[in-house]
Amino acid sequence: MGSVLHFILYLVMTSLSQSQSQSQSQSQSQPERLMRAAGLEGIGSHQEYFEVRYPPSSHEPTPSCSHQVLHHSFGNTIDSPPYTTSYIPPSRCPPPWSRVVLHLHARCKGDQYDRIAAVWLAGVEILRTSTAEPTSTGIFWNVRKDVTRYSSLFAKPSLDLTMMLENIVNNQFTGVYHVTLTLLYYNKYAVTSPVRIPFIPCPESLNFDPIQSQSRSRSRSRSRSRSLSLSLIQEPGARGVSESPADLIIPISDDGRRGFWFKVEEEKDSCSRRIRIPRNTYRAVLELYASFHGNDEFWYSNPPNSYITANGLDTERGNGAYREVYVTIDGKVVGWEIPFPVIFTGGINPLFWEPMVAIGAFDLPSYDIDLTPFLGMILDGKEHVFGIGVVKGISYWLVNANLHLWLDHESKVVHANPVVHHSPETSIERQEEFKGLDGAFDVDAEKETQITGWVITSAGNITTTVSQGFSFKNFIKFQHKGTYKTVKQKFKAKKKVKVIDGRGESITRLKVKRRYPMRLVTNTQQFRDGTYRLVTDLSHTLREKHVSGCFVKSIDNVQNSKGWIEVKDHSVLSGQSSTMQNYSYVDRFTCYSRNVAAAGGRVVADNSTFVCEL
Ligand SMILES: *[C@@H]1O[C@H](CO)[C@@H](O)[C@H](O)[C@H]1NC(C)=O
Ligand SMILES: *[C@@H]1O[C@H](CO)[C@@H](O)[C@H](O)[C@H]1NC(C)=O
Ligand SMILES: *[C@@H]1O[C@H](CO)[C@@H](O)[C@H](O)[C@H]1NC(C)=O
Repeated sequence: MGSVLHFILYLVMTSLSQSQSQSQSQSQSQPERLMRAAGLEGIGSHQEYFEVRYPPSSHEPTPSCSHQVLHHSFGNTIDSPPYTTSYIPPSRCPPPWSRVVLHLHARCKGDQYDRIAAVWLAGVEILRTSTAEPTSTGIFWNVRKDVTRYSSLFAKPSLDLTMMLENIVNNQFTGVYHVTLTLLYYNKYAVTSPVRIPFIPCPESLNFDPIQSQSRSRSRSRSRSRSLSLSLIQEPGARGVSESPADLIIPISDDGRRGFWFKVEEEKDSCSRRIRIPRNTYRAVLELYASFHGNDEFWYSNPPNSYITANGLDTERGNGAYREVYVTIDGKVVGWEIPFPVIFTGGINPLFWEPMVAIGAFDLPSYDIDLTPFLGMILDGKEHVFGIGVVKGISYWLVNANLHLWLDHESKVVHANPVVHHSPETSIERQEEFKGLDGAFDVDAEKETQITGWVITSAGNITTTVSQGFSFKNFIKFQHKGTYKTVKQKFKAKKKVKVIDGRGESITRLKVKRRYPMRLVTNTQQFRDGTYRLVTDLSHTLREKHVSGCFVKSIDNVQNSKGWIEVKDHSVLSGQSSTMQNYSYVDRFTCYSRNVAAAGGRVVADNSTFVCEL
């Protein structure tokens, strides 16, 4: 295989040197969605692609039972309804479960672009994923996601399980995606990580759920309830928060005929759904799913429209480099998020993502927005309109949300404070300076808010204060007649949720910090025959820290990629690449780190340890 690649490289290099003079019609270095050309083969047959995560598959404990819930081949599915089958919980291992994991196995062979996909149960999204780009010898991959938070749904009989993967199969694109979904249920959990930090008692966090812990302490001894919580907390990859799954999850989604996601094509699009929530809801968290495609797939590198117009460019990838997904109730903004810039396997340089895909590409992050302080707006037993939109969004975004609700089983109605609505605008500053195709563009955005709300439950007055803020900076620079492009983006967000009881004593405290800096440098050389060469350097990071009482979980995930490709009409004719990834996961029980290096489509170094570096 290697010699074939060399041969192709050699041919392209020769033809290059003959047409070395640069064309006058320089293309602007906008990233495109690309696919390997039919002749450019991957290395090794039936290679496994992967996303680096914790826990590694070698440390997944054996489930109490596994249950295949979907098996389908996604061929030419474009413009068709999604695939739907019926979900029935396994009678072999009934609820309650301490943990539930969704396992996706996919394989594909042929030529194909990356595709976006999602899985919904009764319209509630449980996985947003994208596919790897296959080779003609075939590839496969596995995605495991902790889906314990959706447990209340998994316990229900006869729900529709739906998967959307819009694919095109014709003479040119031959790859059919064969997908199997299996649910793994755990009734109890055995710790398998070889090195553990000794347990330090942390009583505060054992009481996260005030109503459940109250009824629990009524019926059981204190020590029983403590060991129950611990068995939940010790699970690998658990969310790090000792929170029991919601009692009810209501989708804020489309009707399902084209998948349950809303398609946002422009800023004006408001996607909404009318929802009535039970009047005994005492806690509400909205989980947002969002992915960006088409002209916004690389939104963080889009220049302002003024630059595109002044230079007469025919690209529609504009609107500047700031996007914010927001959530409304009855037209009032109650939450927002700047999504992590997930790069799909055809993005920037497709050779970077072989066989190790970009951060989040197989398991796109979802974002939790605590709406508890707004309960006073929606506890009246009436329908309310929940909306989702994208600030500055252009075609297209796929967005939907799940409303997780916790119910007070000891009362029919809880009362919440009347909400005095206040939602400050995000402060956004933009600067631009350009002459011809060269120039520099800045966007700075920030927002800080704090809101408090109380609910009177059977366990008394519970008051929740949510404080959050973020700062966002994006810098784009074009040099050498627009052919040398630098994108630097920084994002930092902080969130605190404080819950106190009627006596003013702390029930829980949750702190989440996230950062996702990225840097992308692209040098484009255009040739007379229509081919172009892209030399790209990318650094991409996701850092997260969750602290709930004394439970800590932190993830530090860095990917650095370098390489070049020769491209014609979205096809990668030849190229070279290398990607290094350093991943570390730390919680109170485990330290895990893995450093992987891939080059030329192959893993060349792969070290992992369970040792805590103190
Ligand atoms: C609930 O507690 C909060 C904070 O202590 C307080 O401001 C509010 O008045 C209380 N609500 C009621 C109905 O007592
Ligand atoms: C990963 O860690 C190694 C060893 O600590 C370091 O040399 C390398 O620069 C790191 N790579 C990235 C992508 O952070
Ligand atoms: C992997 O570990 C070996 C031995 O400890 C070390 O020499 C090598 O540099 C490490 N490689 C990476 C990619 O961290």
